[in-house]
Amino acid sequence: MLRDTTVLMNEQRIFKPNYHVVEEAHVKNWEAELEKGKDIEKYWAEKAEQFEWFKEWDKVLDDSDKPFFKWFVNGKINLAYNAVDRWISTEKRNQVAILYVNERGEEKKITYYELYREVNKMANALRNLGIKKGETVSMYLPMCPELLISMLACNKIGAVHSVVYSGLSVGAFVERMNDADAKVLITADGTYRRGKIIDLKKIVDEAVLQCPTIETIVVVKHTGSPIEISDLSGREILYDRLVEGEPDTFAPEEMDSEDPLFILYTSGSTGKPKGVLHSTAGYMVGVATTLKNVFDIHENDLWWCTGDIGWITGHSYVIYGPLLLGCTTLVYEGAPDFPDPGIWWRIVEKYGVTKFYTAPTAIRHLMRFGNKYPNLYNLSSLKILGSVGEPINPEAWIWFYENVGKGKTPIMDTWWQTETGMHMISPLPVAGLKPGSATKPLPGIHAEVVDEQGEPVPLGKGGYLVIKKPWPAMFRTLYHDEERFKDVYWKEFPGCVYRAGDMARIDEDGYIWIQGRSDDVLKIAGHRVGTSEVESAFVSHPAVAEAAVIGKSDPIKGQVIKAFLILKEGHNINTTIIEDLKRHVRYELGPVAVLGEIVQVDKLPKTRSGKIMRRILRAKEEGEDLGDTSTLEE
Ligand code: WT7
Repeated sequence: MLRDTTVLMNEQRIFKPNYHVVEEAHVKNWEAELEKGKDIEKYWAEKAEQFEWFKEWDKVLDDSDKPFFKWFVNGKINLAYNAVDRWISTEKRNQVAILYVNERGEEKKITYYELYREVNKMANALRNLGIKKGETVSMYLPMCPELLISMLACNKIGAVHSVVYSGLSVGAFVERMNDADAKVLITADGTYRRGKIIDLKKIVDEAVLQCPTIETIVVVKHTGSPIEISDLSGREILYDRLVEGEPDTFAPEEMDSEDPLFILYTSGSTGKPKGVLHSTAGYMVGVATTLKNVFDIHENDLWWCTGDIGWITGHSYVIYGPLLLGCTTLVYEGAPDFPDPGIWWRIVEKYGVTKFYTAPTAIRHLMRFGNKYPNLYNLSSLKILGSVGEPINPEAWIWFYENVGKGKTPIMDTWWQTETGMHMISPLPVAGLKPGSATKPLPGIHAEVVDEQGEPVPLGKGGYLVIKKPWPAMFRTLYHDEERFKDVYWKEFPGCVYRAGDMARIDEDGYIWIQGRSDDVLKIAGHRVGTSEVESAFVSHPAVAEAAVIGKSDPIKGQVIKAFLILKEGHNINTTIIEDLKRHVRYELGPVAVLGEIVQVDKLPKTRSGKIMRRILRAKEEGEDLGDTSTLEE
């Protein structure tokens, strides 16, 4: 993509200045910590001691039924109790837990004690709606305090949450909602985006017509648009009404370590979205430990992760990680460039953000405006920066490092996935950095780059990224699809190793360079978008007979969609139809599916069994060799 020549230029250079954070860092010696992580059971058991357990585990890891690994067997614990209640009896009681800020400059500070009471009220309310332990509650909400409160309330009562990103639209929503069999859906009247209010409720109204399991819809009055009780249908209730008068105490459900915690849908290269299922104790241990190690979180940190809670980054590092560590988490609702491209730096200055975690696409976007904006503000509170979601090109890394970090804050380039639940490959703040490399597997993680047979490839040579030993926050299965779980991730290489779906290379210093996906999954502005979902959206348009889509390089978003369409008899590509197709795909999938180019073709390259060979389309697009075409139909 964007990286190659500069990668080579920078590969030799290791950044290891004397960052001020090194002095106070929780982990002082990178190599020694990696050494400790070699004994995974010992390492993770030690990390699990940081929590309050109702009952301790009997066995750290049970690997007798691979790939169904179990962690902290027979332990009893509650996540919300450890993220919130535990702090109430300490001096943290009145510390701000959630600092909510939006693009209109409005803010709301919620202390741990206030959060405790709000979560308890919602827990009682969900119980009254008949939600039992193990049942699913869906959420389609913007970045607002009620989303965090509702997720924690689910943990408290032992319900499983399924959050759908509010940037996904009707078609994508319906598919996810129906797979999760939720009885209750929590949503909002709208969200703020670049000076406008996006009407989420309208999307929900259309979508739920196709969601038979939903019995109750809870509506958060967030943007203050005038929804009146009388506007609501018989199964709808306002959030404020629902929690009104509920007691503000609640005895947390004692959850088994392996009880399901949440489902989060993500895209694969084929078929329906995958319901990635995470369980309780291992997830807690994994996210808290990695956030502590990678970003060196202390209790008085003001942590800001710009990821949306609708994705795994937000689950693990906007809400759960920071609250489990007892710091303050900044929740921002809005875009990086509205009302102007200085908004993020203005927030950093105003509140004194200490650790800041964002995505390469946002950095590339802000880079376009030059260093004027970061230079307008005092960013000296920042101690560590982070990047996630896709490979960060060295130009963006260096811009971030020089203009935002002023050459004093290390950048943690964290590689991980919805499935891994937690950071897997990343430096620690005391490590030597190379711009564009996620450096090495974290302590306790055993990653390797292998060839098709599963043998390690020589240094410098590209191969498949695999994880050789289990880790606590690993997903436990795909909801409703155990076979797919086994086939997609655990069958490809011998010995039940985890296939990540990325290509990578290890250099002579042992640094890992992630090269991008090995499958057809698209990465648009860091969001994972399934080719098959986009193709189905096209094919559901009346003019389209067949569709194939590939990722096309884009300087800001990393990739955008290029679609090859076979149109039905009597239809020809023109500007009207292109506009209509764009509208249609946006309606089905939402703004995440960014369309770059739509072309009409007479034929698509297929295998004899009828599978579209996107590889051929990609190679042609990039002007590369077509590779092995022996399975091509003609
Ligand atoms: C895919 C996972 C992890 C939370 C957000 C994305 C790519 C992620 C990096 C990175 C290079 C990265 C990979 C991975 N990716 N982080 N630091 N360097 N690539 O989660 O939506 O599940 O996507 O994102 O391709 O497989 P996700």
